[in-house]
Amino acid sequence: MSLLGRNFVDLADFKRPELRSILDKAHELKSQLKQGQPHEILKGKSMAMIFMKSSTRTRVSFEVGMTQLGGHALYLQPSGTQLGRGETIGDTAKVLSRYCDVIMARVYGHNEVVELAENATVPVVNGLSDFNHPCQIMADMMTIEEHKGKLEGLKIAYVGDSNNVSNSIMQGCTIMGMDVTIGSPKGYTPSEGIVKRADALSKSNKTTVEIVNDPAAAVKNADVIYTDTFFSMGQKREKEKEDALMPFQVNRALVEKAKLDTIVMHCLPAHRDEELTSDMMDDSKHSVVFDQAENRLHAQKGILALIV
Ligand code: CP
Ligand code: NVA
Repeated sequence: MSLLGRNFVDLADFKRPELRSILDKAHELKSQLKQGQPHEILKGKSMAMIFMKSSTRTRVSFEVGMTQLGGHALYLQPSGTQLGRGETIGDTAKVLSRYCDVIMARVYGHNEVVELAENATVPVVNGLSDFNHPCQIMADMMTIEEHKGKLEGLKIAYVGDSNNVSNSIMQGCTIMGMDVTIGSPKGYTPSEGIVKRADALSKSNKTTVEIVNDPAAAVKNADVIYTDTFFSMGQKREKEKEDALMPFQVNRALVEKAKLDTIVMHCLPAHRDEELTSDMMDDSKHSVVFDQAENRLHAQKGILALIV
């Protein structure tokens, strides 16, 4: 099966065998890197990276990944390009397509990355939007496979604010055969649209998706507990939201309500002692947060290797 030329904007655009082929490629490239085997399969290729907002992991892992694959990545921000002076996203996509072999973008509104993809003649990769974070969840599923040996049949409990990361978990993990539970307070649960789409995916992939308002019920029997910031980039800090989310903090008492060997995940950056306690984040018996961060590199190389 070929993924050549495909956009990587939304996990729901992909079927299980397609995501499987990316994960297999990611594991293969990781092992080649660890064994010191060169794998310059994108020699001479260039990737434009547009960052409308901040990033540590996404920027560094994509840039290093492209170098390891023998290619080159360009870091572009609105302030240093004509995007900041009003050149449209569509025109930018057309121009960048004349120079580059792939475009990666981190945007505010999801419509911006969709507009890029509609106007580019090269593949577009979504490096996070307000709607989803597909590359993150590929790295996360790779990490789960490393620690649990499989994905199918496992239960992942996402606890906290429903956001771009939880939206992609509801898609990617469902497609790959995991049962997904979202534990969020009332008012901060996933939108009706995303639940509908996840329900459809879970039916066709024979898994379950449930939304609960109780953190203890969410993590019951969980193989994986996942959390993310209470306030995503672009959102204002609000006392009311913080108060609603504090009971959903991932701490030792909550982790002890899951399976004994549950793993604790966070896409990072973490706000220590807010959504995740510092002692849980540093507890090597459960926490795999830095493995996730490392796997951004390998998972994204897998994506690029197949679509470029
Ligand atoms: N997890 C993640 O996307 O991190 P950055 O914001 O540092 O890229
Ligand atoms: N939900 C977070 C993820 C950061 C990687 C945000 O959008 O800020």
